[in-house]
Amino acid sequence: MKVLIINGSPRTGGNTSRLLKEATGIFEREGVGYEIYQIGGKAVRGCMACGCCSEHEGCAIKDDVNVLAQKLDECDGLLVAAPVYYGSANGSVISLLDRLFYSSRCDKRMKVGAAFAVARRAGTTATFDELNKYFTINQMPIASGRYWNNGFGREKGQTSADEEGLQNARIVARNMVFLMKSIALGREKYGLPETEQTVMTSFIK
Ligand SMILES: Cc1cc2nc3c(=O)[nH]c(=O)nc-3n(C[C@H](O)[C@H](O)[C@H](O)COP(=O)(O)O)c2cc1C
Repeated sequence: MKVLIINGSPRTGGNTSRLLKEATGIFEREGVGYEIYQIGGKAVRGCMACGCCSEHEGCAIKDDVNVLAQKLDECDGLLVAAPVYYGSANGSVISLLDRLFYSSRCDKRMKVGAAFAVARRAGTTATFDELNKYFTINQMPIASGRYWNNGFGREKGQTSADEEGLQNARIVARNMVFLMKSIALGREKYGLPETEQTVMTSFIK
């Protein structure tokens, strides 16, 4: 059982990392593996809408997105954490997620998703909603917490004082583990739900 963690922050040891530390502590206690991919200072281009991925597997831009697609295929859960920039998830994480979800062909159904948003003061709920949209268009159930998953702080480390945010991160991680284990059992017993051929309605007549 494994969780892929994407940390959108460019700052190593920043507040997003601090919130994630609470979640990874739970994964360690529960014996669940995890791998953290932090965007850091990497230049992540946005989707070019070239359409190459509809003809060939993977993204035409040769960077970590194709590597992450393989890891996404292998994981049971995906935890995405991002700092809030101007009321949204930071640009690099959105560029990465757009390309990862659009170009990867792996079956994402029933992989458990969770999103964390970290800000100095505002924009966490919009960011939380924004990140959850990648899961809800892919038949991925979401592990939720006791509040909308956020952490507050500006300077590195300040989120350590946000006890409620840290507690919520631990709760989300426990719920994620429970869902992943339950889905693994359900999958064994019942298999994945039947799927259907994609229908795309055109509203232009
Ligand atoms: C370009 C930029 C835009 C930001 N916009 C917001 C914002 O809209 N709302 C907010 O509360 N904090 C904002 N912040 C503050 C960060 O969200 C905050 O410092 C957060 O802790 C950064 O997380 P990190 O340490 O993991 O990078 C912004 C910071 C930067 C650099």
